[in-house]
Amino acid sequence: MRVPIIAGNWKMNKTAAETAAFLGELAPKLAPFTGTERVVCPPFIGLPAAAAALAGSDIKIGAQNVSEHEKGAYTSQVSAAMLEGLVEYVIIGHSECREYLGETDAVINRKIKAALAHGLKPIFAMGENLAVNEAGQTLAFVGGQVRAGLADITAEQMQNIVVAYEPIWAIGTGKSANAQFANEITGGIRGVIESLYGATTADGVRIQYGGSVKPSNMAEYMSQEHIDGALVGGASLVVDDFVSLVQAAQETKGA
Ligand code: 13P
Repeated sequence: MRVPIIAGNWKMNKTAAETAAFLGELAPKLAPFTGTERVVCPPFIGLPAAAAALAGSDIKIGAQNVSEHEKGAYTSQVSAAMLEGLVEYVIIGHSECREYLGETDAVINRKIKAALAHGLKPIFAMGENLAVNEAGQTLAFVGGQVRAGLADITAEQMQNIVVAYEPIWAIGTGKSANAQFANEITGGIRGVIESLYGATTADGVRIQYGGSVKPSNMAEYMSQEHIDGALVGGASLVVDDFVSLVQAAQETKGA
């Protein structure tokens, strides 16, 4: 059985002080939902504050990116070694990083390897833009991102990777993907993973949907066979909304 995983990607929101205050309020409200895995991903600068605020809680912390390099002259970058011990997860391949930071599939593949080498669990994100979607090429496109991002990754390593399908046209737009369509694509992604690693590994991999997930649509996504959780932007910045998302995950598929 796949334990649902709901991750809040805060993007460039909340100072360290705001992080501490927000998590002080969120943590007790999320505590009852032990049948789900709950993750918050603040900006790098807020990670120590998050760790302090969540000490003794079972809420996990993720980073929003990581360098592909081990260390050295890479101004502004943060390495996997620096994140080790501070976070359990790291988002890799978010469309905003692909677009604004020029991250290619090859870079993302190297970042996944760097993260795994330091015991971090990648939340490997991918998704198509509107033109690809309207051309009916979503699965072909996303399948290519999956294969490229997972090049040389073993079946054993795959057990520590969460996949996040986030159609770009649905991110921050309020225009969420139809749940059946999202199930079709996440099921297709699982099929690609099966072709690479076999059915047992594919059955165990958790696949999130992301893109305008909110309390009003979460249960419908979570009722889909292949959707095991959500990667959430805007709604994860509001305590009661995030709690509602986790509650919906618990009620539909909670362990
Ligand atoms: P929204 O939930 O704000 O649409 O953002 C989705 C996202 O990009 C999460 O990584």
